Amino acid sequence: MLTISEVSKSYGKKRVLDDISIELENGLYGLLAPNGAGKTTLLKLIVTLLSPDRGEILWNGAPVQKLGASYREIIGYLPQQFGYYKYNTPVQYLDYLAALKGLPREGLKEKIFSVLDTVGLSDVAQVKMRKFSGGMIQRVGIAQALMGDSRLLILDEPTAGLDPKERARFRNLIAEMSKNRIVILSTHIVSDVESVSGRVLMLKDRKLVRNQSASALCSELEGKVFEIRVKTDDQAAALKKEHFILSERNEAGSMILRYYSEQPAGLEGERLCPPNLEDLFLVMYR
Ligand SMILES: Nc1ncnc2c1ncn2[C@@H]1O[C@H](COP(=O)(O)OP(=O)(O)OP(=O)(O)O)[C@@H](O)[C@H]1O
Ligand SMILES: [Mg+2]
Repeated sequence: MLTISEVSKSYGKKRVLDDISIELENGLYGLLAPNGAGKTTLLKLIVTLLSPDRGEILWNGAPVQKLGASYREIIGYLPQQFGYYKYNTPVQYLDYLAALKGLPREGLKEKIFSVLDTVGLSDVAQVKMRKFSGGMIQRVGIAQALMGDSRLLILDEPTAGLDPKERARFRNLIAEMSKNRIVILSTHIVSDVESVSGRVLMLKDRKLVRNQSASALCSELEGKVFEIRVKTDDQAAALKKEHFILSERNEAGSMILRYYSEQPAGLEGERLCPPNLEDLFLVMYR
């Protein structure tokens, strides 16, 4: 179990995280917040690349700073920006990282091919990475995080650069991985965490403001999300003035406005909608 206890972190005078406490058990945690909210900072604290100014992080009750190498051994980490040598093949790269990590050489080749298969890179295992797309590079990064059979998998914006098909594949992979380990992934893309079975952690104004399932989060907006088919520009303008617009879309030649309102606006054609996580994200960070 990972315990983040009353953790605060500043860069110089700028406080980025304030009094964050989270208890994490095996399962998936989606750290969802807009750019600059402190996601990477929190993940770097967890992997001990940074130390908290106040508070502490515990692994099964022991402070991680004291556990040192034995703690880092159980971590798989995909940094937001990771370095690789483009003239290496994925196999060479993973082999090199395994050596850095001090992983046993025995069974290493099999392990490398198995993680490359997991992320769908088997057929390019021996191709130099300079030919790879952004999504393929990202998958190499995910593969390296999976190398050590980690108890704690920390993925900083793992879906950046993945196309929709790769995203779907990745979601399935993560769901599988989180069955018997703690997986924390950061993202500012709502759909990455919308369908996850685990918890969504949200940061706002340096604080942890939510730690709930996606469905519990959505139910916060129950009865407050509406849609209406707008007939005239004036009507649209009036609605936009009075209410917080969540989205606009065109359907069969007319505009549908989706909006947030504490009470029904009492308009003809107004339709109450089941809220989704995107709605909550927009309302929370408006
Ligand atoms: N080394 C640093 N020195 C000073 N300020 C920093 C440093 N690293 C991050 N910051 C600032 O701290 C805040 C939080 O940064 P962080 O990278 O943790 O956010 P994030 O949620 O990961 O953002 P993004 O979605 O853009 O990756 C930002 O305002 C950032 O500019
Ligand atoms: Mg970041």
